[in-house]
Amino acid sequence: MQTLDDDRPKKSLNPYLLFCVSTAAIGSLQFGYNTGVINAPETKLRTFFQNVSSERYGHPFSPGATTMVWSFAVAIFSVGGMIGSLSVGILVDKFGRRKSMLLSNSLALLGGSLMGLSSMCRSFEMVIIGRLIIGIFCGLCTGLTPMYLGEISPTALRGAFGTLHQLGVVVGILVAQIFGLEAALGSDRLWPLLLSLTILPAVIQSAMLPFCPESPRYLLIVLNEEDEARKALERLRGTDNVSDDIQEMKEEGMKMAMEKKVSIPELFRSPNYRQPLIIAITLQLSQQLSGINAVFYYSTGIFKSAGVSQPIYATIGAGIVNTVFTIVSLFLIERAGRRTLHLIGLAGMAVSALLMTIFLSLVNSNQVMSYLAIIAVFTFVASFEMGPGPIPWFIVAELFSQGPRPAAMAVSGCSNWTANFLVGLGFPKLEELCGPYVFLIFMVLLILFFIFTFLRVPETKGRTFDQIEQGFAAKPAPSSAPDAMVLRPDSAPMFSAPLDHVA
Ligand code: GLC
Repeated sequence: MQTLDDDRPKKSLNPYLLFCVSTAAIGSLQFGYNTGVINAPETKLRTFFQNVSSERYGHPFSPGATTMVWSFAVAIFSVGGMIGSLSVGILVDKFGRRKSMLLSNSLALLGGSLMGLSSMCRSFEMVIIGRLIIGIFCGLCTGLTPMYLGEISPTALRGAFGTLHQLGVVVGILVAQIFGLEAALGSDRLWPLLLSLTILPAVIQSAMLPFCPESPRYLLIVLNEEDEARKALERLRGTDNVSDDIQEMKEEGMKMAMEKKVSIPELFRSPNYRQPLIIAITLQLSQQLSGINAVFYYSTGIFKSAGVSQPIYATIGAGIVNTVFTIVSLFLIERAGRRTLHLIGLAGMAVSALLMTIFLSLVNSNQVMSYLAIIAVFTFVASFEMGPGPIPWFIVAELFSQGPRPAAMAVSGCSNWTANFLVGLGFPKLEELCGPYVFLIFMVLLILFFIFTFLRVPETKGRTFDQIEQGFAAKPAPSSAPDAMVLRPDSAPMFSAPLDHVA
């Protein structure tokens, strides 16, 4: 069994690879920016909707109607995300990874322009349609970027590069929070610019993509263009010696030739994919149902009810903690492993959710509680970025080989967006019903996801795609345990344990 020598990551990291990885991560930045950008200008947009209504119909929308239009503009982004993420498979199979990223940028131009021109055209419909198109675009980004990153990374750096997707997301959120300040672009006059700013990274990425290669895995395994794949790999690895990678891809390709192309319905039907599919979907659900976006969408309100006088700055503080801990995770992920970090993250979030509940419920009795509540929100966010933030996005590309990968990315991405939509839509109502105890719901879910991860999720760190797949194929007979352990280059015998639990 192939093992990885320790100095390989250092040799593999080179400026050209970093250029390609950064180019792809602009897609992640777009997802983060558009997730975060809508919160700050809420009152400006509500006023705009009312003004347009007055101009058109002679009277402003009622407060109820304004809230409806507003919620629609917010929620339709996730609906677009579901559509976009489900379309990833079709797009990459037809156009490849790089061209798909290029094509998807046209959606950013269109959506950004519609939102940017909405005020001038006195049309709130343009904001809504623009948000839908941007949602589709972001749904594509959440599939295309992790897939491209996973496929161009050397095995030993796949986790770190996968985490770059999340780093792009969190930086995007932070930039949106800062640009959204009244003193920056969140003003009455400039909000259209704030919403249309997404065009800029799209143009930059489109200018950079022609200098990046197509994914060598796609070239070799799907298009059967070995020479092109070799050339792309030589550039990415910065060395002529790419035979190991080519060999590994060929083995994966041979396996894929034996199975026919996997569509989404086949992915659900085939028992071979059942186990990795359940893991991929559950990990995505663990990310969203952890309640992270309850914080990112509504933190200003949460901080306000905790008695914080300048809640917007506490929100930006959460954005900074979010970014710092994603960077921490970036450095830990190839050392501690995905499974361990995911478990640590879920446990940290569950404890933080409990502390948040305690502090929020005591806020009225003691002023110190509001500071403690802020700290609990920060540890909640920090724990999220240790594992549940970055890992679900990239582990899907690791759990599936080339054949089912596009369909698996589509299905798991869509589960993520659907759960995101439900939390976004349901949290205000839940908060109304449960008050400060609302985070206990997430605590219970976090504990359930912890148990699932502990029992079922294998470690994928340092293993080739093929080795990971073999792990799932292994028969869970007691005598197979030593073999399953041989598959793991790192010594902890975790992998055999989760597999034994699968019927
Ligand atoms: C993840 C989630 C996203 C969330 C973000 C917060 O990328 O997918 O929904 O807003 O993390 O950092």
